[in-house]
Amino acid sequence: MNEVIIMESKNISISWSEFSSLDELSENDQELIRAAREASKNAWAPYSGFRVGAAVRLENGMIIIGSNIENAAFPSGICAERNVLSTSAASFPDKKPIALAIAARNQEGLTDDPVPPCGNCRQVIVEEELRNSNDIKLLLSGKTKIIVVEKGSDLLPLQFSVNNMRINLP
Ligand code: THU
Repeated sequence: MNEVIIMESKNISISWSEFSSLDELSENDQELIRAAREASKNAWAPYSGFRVGAAVRLENGMIIIGSNIENAAFPSGICAERNVLSTSAASFPDKKPIALAIAARNQEGLTDDPVPPCGNCRQVIVEEELRNSNDIKLLLSGKTKIIVVEKGSDLLPLQFSVNNMRINLP
């Protein structure tokens, strides 16, 4: 019988912090989470009933907000995170995003648990980090728990990026 030889076994571990209330965070982070919670009210989500808000803090202190905007043609909708990162990149291309807060509400109001970004959004967050050579701190907020991840790339191990393509960006 053939033996399977594993050349090298590797392991990736990630870490994050959890908080049980907003007051345990800095004023700046609290403000960003409040902005995401407010932004969730602007969502257009009649199909899923799940309204997501996202808020980006730029390096100059500005806050940009976005929400999920769904569409009767389902794939045409966009998540709150990609929406806000597109807005900040398009409107303020020279200002690096330094933090991104996410909040969501269902029919009962703000979710108890923090909502993590979906896979597509993780890919977009990582692109923004690489483009700006800057980590984006993620503040995932629920009513009863807040998760802080120091950088978006922590949530996308073995990520595909421009580094895999070996091309030069402009
Ligand atoms: N959604 C977001 O906006 N962000 C996420 O990270 C997860 C999902 C949206 C997409 C869709 O409009 C609704 O939530 C249900 O999936």
